Amino acid sequence: MSAPPALVCRGLVKRYGDVVAVNGLDLDVRRGECFGLLGPNGAGKTTTVEILEGLCSPDGGEVEVLGERWVGDGLALRARLGIQLQETRFPEKLQVAEVIALFRSFYPRGLEPEEALRRVSLQEKARAHVRTLSGGQKQRLSLACAIVGDPEVLFLDEPSTGLDPASRREIWEIVEDLKARGRTILLTTHYMEEAARLCDRVAIVDRGRVLSLGTPAALVASLGAEHVVEVEVDGELAEEELRALPAVEGVRVAGRTVRLTVRDVARALPPLLALCAERGAAPRRLATHHASLEDVFMALAGRRLEGAGEEAA
Ligand SMILES: Nc1ncnc2c1ncn2[C@@H]1O[C@H](COP(=O)(O)OP(=O)(O)OP(=O)(O)O)[C@@H](O)[C@H]1O
Ligand SMILES: [Mg+2]
Repeated sequence: MSAPPALVCRGLVKRYGDVVAVNGLDLDVRRGECFGLLGPNGAGKTTTVEILEGLCSPDGGEVEVLGERWVGDGLALRARLGIQLQETRFPEKLQVAEVIALFRSFYPRGLEPEEALRRVSLQEKARAHVRTLSGGQKQRLSLACAIVGDPEVLFLDEPSTGLDPASRREIWEIVEDLKARGRTILLTTHYMEEAARLCDRVAIVDRGRVLSLGTPAALVASLGAEHVVEVEVDGELAEEELRALPAVEGVRVAGRTVRLTVRDVARALPPLLALCAERGAAPRRLATHHASLEDVFMALAGRRLEGAGEEAA
């Protein structure tokens, strides 16, 4: 019999008062897979991850981690997991080496603490106090703590948020190295480039539900066209008229910004500019790019976000 999936969520529900943080979420993460959870702020990503980590219990539905449910203290299961929370506070007066030794002591086996620090390029800070670390260095320390037990499953909740571009790439290399070692990784991120590079599959979630799931390439292909044309106009264009333009597959109008998904830029542009001229909506800024995961994200979650922005205004 094949091994059970690394992570399973079935009909997961979590409420905080009137807020439904997770609303019937289903998910399977295979062993050895790097799986990405993407979604706008408040979508329920951290809540879902924390339920899987056994840190909070659901109001409905079930989770399985490495084929097991969370029962009792779950210590044996915990020893097989590495966790990087979205925000970690370490005791300010401890030295980096003491923090990593402390986390190593929680696990029956794992890396040498120095090796964990080396992997996140913090070996030179071993004697530094936590309070003297920069934000990015603290972030890397929390990643070192997550990998020091050499976990089978690693949970990374926004591991590269707030990092400079070089440090972000370092985190990517660490994740790629863990993937090469066959570890399973559940990652949340707001960087679409990061998800496209690291994740075998991603789920785009909003309001506690999965909106779309697949490989990054399959999600981009689901847009139905390869290119995106974005134009900011001084005036208004009707969605129906834009939709009727040649080679156009998708249309989104948000205020003065029009975003078209098109099969062929050369065919779509001249009639688009002609329409702008006809309607007296002068194009202020025009850009085209290859469709990416970010376009999928905006197509699925963007409409709701822009709607929310208008309500708040
Ligand atoms: N402890 C809590 N008490 C009350 N509400 C909570 C609590 N934790 C989360 N929520 C609410 O649940 C919803 C989902 O929050 P969650 O932290 O899971 O979102 P997220 O997808 O991780 O967002 P972000 O991208 O901002 O990290 C939000 O509306 C949030 O306000
Ligand atoms: Mg979160």
